[in-house]
Amino acid sequence: MALKLNSKFLDNYVSKDDINNISNEVCNAQKVLNSRSGEGNDFLGWVDLPVNYDKDEFSRIKVAAKNIQESCDIFVVIGIGGSYLGARAAIEFVKSPVYNNLPNKKTPDIYFAGNSISASSLNDLLKICEGKDVCINVVSKSGTTTEPAVAFRVFRALLEEKYGKEGAKKRIFATTDKAKGTLKKFSDENGYETFVVPDDVGGRFSVLTAVGLLPIAVAGIDIDSMMKGAQDARVAYSNEDIESNDCLKYVAIRNILLRKGKSVEILAAYEPAAQMLCEWWKQLFGESEGKDKKGIYPSSVIFSTDLHSLGQFIQDGSRIMFETVLDIKKSNDELLIPFDPNNVDKLNFLSGKDLDYVNHTAMLGTLFAHSDGDVPNIVLELDDRSEYSFGYLIYFFELACAISGYTLGVNPFNQPGVESYKKNMFALLGKEGYEELRAELTKRIK
Ligand code: PA5
Repeated sequence: MALKLNSKFLDNYVSKDDINNISNEVCNAQKVLNSRSGEGNDFLGWVDLPVNYDKDEFSRIKVAAKNIQESCDIFVVIGIGGSYLGARAAIEFVKSPVYNNLPNKKTPDIYFAGNSISASSLNDLLKICEGKDVCINVVSKSGTTTEPAVAFRVFRALLEEKYGKEGAKKRIFATTDKAKGTLKKFSDENGYETFVVPDDVGGRFSVLTAVGLLPIAVAGIDIDSMMKGAQDARVAYSNEDIESNDCLKYVAIRNILLRKGKSVEILAAYEPAAQMLCEWWKQLFGESEGKDKKGIYPSSVIFSTDLHSLGQFIQDGSRIMFETVLDIKKSNDELLIPFDPNNVDKLNFLSGKDLDYVNHTAMLGTLFAHSDGDVPNIVLELDDRSEYSFGYLIYFFELACAISGYTLGVNPFNQPGVESYKKNMFALLGKEGYEELRAELTKRIK
């Protein structure tokens, strides 16, 4: 097992009786998922994805990744939400948050675009691409999302100007629906290579499809090993015994804590490389559980960095939260703290110690402090930052999120709330068909 749940820091908050009392509900939610009888059951393709994936496409992803590695300096991944967060999380977690700046890297720089509507960030990226060979991967299941569609227009124009229409088409890769949608039609008409977002896999559950796998493979990450991690997690968390199934236990604990008034969950990691993993996790749980006026608000921190900002609130502010601490057991690196003959900073007691040991000690100290400050702490112990562990962890969270959503009584696979801003934005921008709403909003502004 690459992952272990440690409940030592929950003693005062979650009793054996609490677990026993909720276990029926959690196990029923697991049954609803497995029998495919719950709401959103047409979006369960991710459950068996680690074994039941398109092997031909998987091979095609590896070939395309090699081709991209050989033909560009910069690879731009255009997508928003579930169409980019998983890939970015994997690259930063397994490789580095400064992947693009790693010396002697043999793979292209990877940038993400189309995940905001900021002119500055798009312009900055265009400047970075000047004089460089560029390939792009536009990722959109619907094919109509505004943010990536705008960025795709901009980058398509750049590639066509630089390489001509024929040259550009070898550098544009589209990941979208297998048959329908504007992007699929446009890609086929223009001869772009396309990859599939399966019908039954929603955006935030799609990291182990071509959505995540192509950019991840371009970064030189072993996608076979990542899938193997997810496969092993799928087996490990299939049993129905809450005592031995850490995924069910995690679901039980977070729902017990919610019922005791802890409505905010903070995912805390002690590695900056986990920052985008936290963003991916927030989207997964936020979009899946936050509806019908229900849900646990997902938040995140990177420690020790944020111990010098949000740490104060967590220690001492209103008691609304619990923490889920990601404890990565083995660091990718060793760095010994140097000896200073003058001991100016009085830190010689640390000389010769590995920085990762100090980081872990900071974690332990914080676990005690936050527990004493009345913040329950779930600890998830992950072996390392390998691709295998990443795949394992991703599957753990996806499964927990689905079972937790059913335990809460929501459909974890839709996102009706995301539409509201879009309607208003389209109306205010003057899109055809939104005239009435535009008139109403215009009145409200005045
Ligand atoms: O999880 C989801 O379904 C969303 O976050 C989508 O991934 C996001 O809205 C992007 O949608 P699309 O891939 O259709 O452009």
